[in-house]
Order: sequence, then C-alpha cells, then structure tokens
Amino acid sequence: MRFSNTFLDDIRDRVPISNVIARRVSWDKRKTNVSRGDYWACCPFHGEKSPSFHCEDRKGRYHCFGCGVTGDHFRFLTELEGLSFPEAVQQIADMAGVPMPLADPVMEKREKERGSLIDVMEMATQFFQDQLQTANGARARAYLRDRGLTGRTIETFRLGYAPDSRNALKEFLAGKGVTKEQIEACGLVVHENVPVSYDRFRDRIMFPILSSREKVIAFGGRAMSADAPAKYLNSNETELFHKGNVLYNFARARRAIQGPGRGDQDDNASGTIIAVEGYMDVIALYQAGVENAVAPLGTALTENQLELLWKMVPQPVLCFDGDGAGIRAANRAAELALPHLKPGRSVRFALLPDGKDPDDLVRDEGRAPFDKVMSQAKPLSEMLWSREVNTGKFDTPEARAELEARLKQLVAVIADENVRRHYQQDIRDRLNTFFQPQFQNRGSGERRGFNGNGNSRNGRDNAGKAGPKSPSLISDRLARSGPVRGHRDITALRESVLALTVVNHPALMIDDYDEIAAIEYDSRELQRLWSAMLGAAAAVAGPHLTREYLTERLEFEGFGPLIKSLDQQVRNARLWTATEEAAMEDAREGYRQALAFHKRAKALRRQKMELEREIALATEAGDGEAIVQLMRAQQEVHFEGVRLENQEAIIDGFGVLSGRVKGAANH
Ligand code: UTP
Ligand code: MN
Repeated sequence: MRFSNTFLDDIRDRVPISNVIARRVSWDKRKTNVSRGDYWACCPFHGEKSPSFHCEDRKGRYHCFGCGVTGDHFRFLTELEGLSFPEAVQQIADMAGVPMPLADPVMEKREKERGSLIDVMEMATQFFQDQLQTANGARARAYLRDRGLTGRTIETFRLGYAPDSRNALKEFLAGKGVTKEQIEACGLVVHENVPVSYDRFRDRIMFPILSSREKVIAFGGRAMSADAPAKYLNSNETELFHKGNVLYNFARARRAIQGPGRGDQDDNASGTIIAVEGYMDVIALYQAGVENAVAPLGTALTENQLELLWKMVPQPVLCFDGDGAGIRAANRAAELALPHLKPGRSVRFALLPDGKDPDDLVRDEGRAPFDKVMSQAKPLSEMLWSREVNTGKFDTPEARAELEARLKQLVAVIADENVRRHYQQDIRDRLNTFFQPQFQNRGSGERRGFNGNGNSRNGRDNAGKAGPKSPSLISDRLARSGPVRGHRDITALRESVLALTVVNHPALMIDDYDEIAAIEYDSRELQRLWSAMLGAAAAVAGPHLTREYLTERLEFEGFGPLIKSLDQQVRNARLWTATEEAAMEDAREGYRQALAFHKRAKALRRQKMELEREIALATEAGDGEAIVQLMRAQQEVHFEGVRLENQEAIIDGFGVLSGRVKGAANH
C-alpha cells in the first residue's frame, strides 16, 4: 500500500526521532543537549568508541560523521532493525498514537487530487510570473522596482502579476485542460453565489505561498491601486491551504538556519527564526541579507504556527511594530506561547521603532538597523513583566498585591512544571526588586518598560513623591552605601540609627522615655549600650541630659569605639538624621520611623517563627491542607517583610535633602 506524504509527515512530526533511536543507543551525556533536541551517541551502524552519531529532533534526521549513514525515522528502522517500510510506518504510527490509514480508495483518490491541485497551482504561479514580464505587467514591474526589489529577488520569491481581468487566469488554465472543479478547488476563482465564476486575483502583485515541501499551495495578492477594497487578498482555505498552519517563507528560512556552521547560534539573529508581520517584510529582509524571516498569512500568529517555529528553533524571535497595535499583537502572542513553554523552549520579542516595519527599516541603510532591533529582543518573561507593570501605579499595598496576584495567575497557565516553577521564581525576584527602590536605579537600565519609556518604576516613584524628598536619589545612594545590601544589614543599620539618634539627641528621652526604654536590640552590644545609657539618663534631671553629658558617661564606660563605629556606619549610609548635626525635628522624625520599622520587623519575625512552629506541627500531623495554608501565610509574611524593607529604604533617607542642619557640619 502506498502511504500519503501527509500521513508520513504527520507521524514523523509527532515522534521525536530521538525516541526512535534511543531504543538502540545510549546518549552521550556530555555532547547531548536535550533541551535543544540535539543528541549524540556511539554509532549503532558501525562500531566506535567515541560518539560521532548525531540526531536532531527538529530536523527529524540522523547522521553519522564516522560512517556517513543518514536518514529519518523510517530509514533507521528499515536499515538498522531490518523492518520493511510498511512495518516501520506501522511502528512510528503506533508511537505517534495515530491509526494506520485503511487501504481506502477514497483517500487514495483524494491524495491524487491533491497532487493535481498542486500542479494547477504551479501552472497559475507560472502564469502570474509570465504576466509580470508582459506589457500588462509594466506597471507592476515599476511598482516593485519602486519598492526596491531586484529582479533576482522577484525571481527568488517567484513574484507575479495577476492582470486586471475577470477571466485571464481561468481561460489560461482551461486551455491547459484544467477542469472547472479543480480551478475552484484551488481557490483561484470566486464561484460561490455568483452566476459565472471569475478570477479571484485581479490587478494584484502575486506572492506565491509555499508549503514546507516548497510547493505552491496558495497566493497572497497585493493591490496595485490604493483604492482597492483590500490591500492584501489571500487565497481562501482549500484542500491544500490552511492558513493557520503555514508560514510564509518557511522552507527557505529553515534552510537558512541549517546552513553550515550555524548550529550553535541560536541566540543571535542569524541563528534563529524571526517572525515578522508581512510578506513584503520577509522579502525586503531577504534582500538585505536576513534570510531567516517568516510571516503568518494575514492573521495573528496561531498556535500551530508557533509550533512550526519551535520545530525549527527553540527561541524564535517575534517581531512586531512598536505602535499600539503591534504591542497588542505581541501581548497576544505572549499569551499564546505561555502554556506551551518547555525547558529551553520560549520566544523572544523584538519591537520595531514606532511606525516602521522591517521593510522600511532595511530600505535605506541595509540590515544594520534591523539587526540592532533584533539584538535588543526581550525574553518572554520580561515582556510579560513589563506589560503588567506598565499598566498602572503600585503606590498602595492593595495595588501591589493585585499586581502580584495577576502575575501569579499569568504564569499558572504554563503547563510544564519546571518552567512554571522558574517563572514563579522570576516573578518573585522581579517583584522584590520592583518594590525595593534602592535597587531600581541600578537595574532600570535593563528593566526598562517594554516600550522603552522606562515607566515601569512609576509606582514607586509616585509613592515617594509626597514630600520634598527624592526617594530615587536617596535610594540610589543607599544602594551604593555598602552596608545596606542585605536583610541583615538593613536590620543592623536600623538598630544603629535608633541607638545613635538617641545618643546624639537625648532630648528625645524627655518625651519618649518609656518607649525608648522598651526597645530591644538584636545586637548584644547595642543592648548593653542601651542599659548604660538608660542608667546614665536616669541619674540626671531633664535639662541636664545633654549629648555632651551622655557621651562623656558612655565613653567613660568604654562605649567610645562603639559610638564611633555607629557614627561611621550611618554616615556611610548617608543617614544624617542619626548624626549629631541633624536638626532636632529631623532627628525625631528619623527616630520615630526607624522605631516603627523596628517594631514591625520584630512582629513579623515573631509571626514567622510562630508559623514555622505550626508548620512543623502540621507536618508531624500529616495535615497537608494546613501545611499549604500555613506556607501561604508564611509567604505573605515574607512579602510583607520585603515591602517593609523597601519602604524603609526610602524613608531612612529622610532629612538628606531637608537642608536643615544644626551646628557647623559640612556634609
Ligand atoms: P501591512 O498592512 O503591515 O502590510 O500588513 P505590509 O506587509 O507592510 O505591506 P506593504 O508594505 O504595505 O506592501 C501586514 C500583513 O497583513 C496581511 C498581509 O499578510 C500583510 O503582509 N494583510 C494586510 C492582509 O492579509 N490584508 C490586508 O488588507 C492587509
Ligand atoms: Mn510595509
């Protein structure tokens, strides 16, 4: 029985060739790259000790660099396992979970008809190509020349011209013995609901659309005249053409990336596949030397087209207009891709400068401007992130919680567990950084919003703009001041601020003695300093409780070096409110805020310990549901802690720009 190519392609596509081969070899762990579908083993066809047998899932082929054998799924089984061809087909069909086709006369007839339809399409293609070279085609030739296409490019893409006639093609094909039914089945005429069928494409530049086997299966036609009802008209769906399953220039682009020596360049523009929006973009890019571009056919990218891209490369680049419509299309594509991510398999996004398509971009200066856009392509994770944070302000806890919830929801659709976990981690990291302004300035270069306007930081900026302080400036300084990088450092710094502010401004104790007396420090040194200070303060009456008196006493008791190091610490961190030069109002404000954070942080820490204890108990009791809930609570507490540290980083800088300075300090 003869199998249809469609059937053979279908089962071959469904079964990674590595699965077929893996039953007979063991992969070399060092050379193999599973996420790329790139496998190496010692050749099963000839004995060898070092692996020179190679197979690639995305090509569906194997090759031995030692003995030169080469082939596909079926070949492997017939040559190595000695199966007959139908037996090999049977095995692959079983692996694919696809039933074998019955020896169906109807199917065979259909297959033959498909073959004849392809012949008809080929005739039509040649007709259009010829028309372009006739007197009829003069305007079309001029148009293409105007658009900068060379004769060679026109030849390569087999561009043609459909004359302004209702029956030129129809009559040409009829003259070649093509039946009315075949012409209709090819979608070359409009025949439904009209008394007499007529040529579908009239006065249009014709772009033949090729299958992966490089047969013409459809056309796109661009109107010559500006007032034609549709700028582009595409073939309707036919037996040959399902537009959602086809990419323009697919086969040539695939060949381009499979050229010699290109195998390891998946990350740059020439080693990947680029999806652009239009036929003319693909062609103009080709002419500029970018041969690896494809385009969907007048629809937004479909899931099947995405699968096609992934069959060629693990990280195709999707290229869109930088305008609103382009960004919306990019977002749709992002959502389309998300559920289907696999380890090592994703998409990247390149946004073109406003109002330009790739064709415009390469017209004057060649490929360089386009390459630049490509080199700035953003990973999917960043694209989604930018989209979410560009939607609004995050200046309230509610807004931030909502952002977090939305992002979590978004990544929940990722089917692959590992990828999902990494996305969740990525989002946590980004949220932490985002709500942590001291790191923002440092990171904003790369973390800029997707549309390049950098307003992904707007939430926090606005939050801080309440007063005369400039949190971004302060936080930048904080970021640079060594000792505040980590959680422990922030805790330590907060305690230093508290202690030193009171030592430098003992008048604070007049109003807030009880509260100050109750402060508990993590640092044992500070705890000792506190006891000494409270003792000294208790010994004198209010008006005599000056800084000079206090420091003298404390130095006498051996705290001089500690106070000195505290002073150095807060100065390094530019936290002037704690220094002796600070105006009393600023000192009070700084102290109060530090105290509030200190208390809140302590409470959170208690909560955290409590939760840990309960989780341990629930684990012992095997209460899964409780564990899940407790862990969720634990995460909330953690986030709260992070947010607290972030706010703190802003407010700790209070007074830096207040300009109020007491005494003769010069900082
Ligand atoms: P564009 O309008 O961006 O066209 O549509 P373009 O590719 O830049 O074409 P030129 O430069 O004006 O010649 C992008 C793609 O959308 C589809 C076509 O596939 C086109 O290539 N399209 C556009 C249609 O199918 N129909 C239309 O009316 C317009
Ligand atoms: Mn264009």
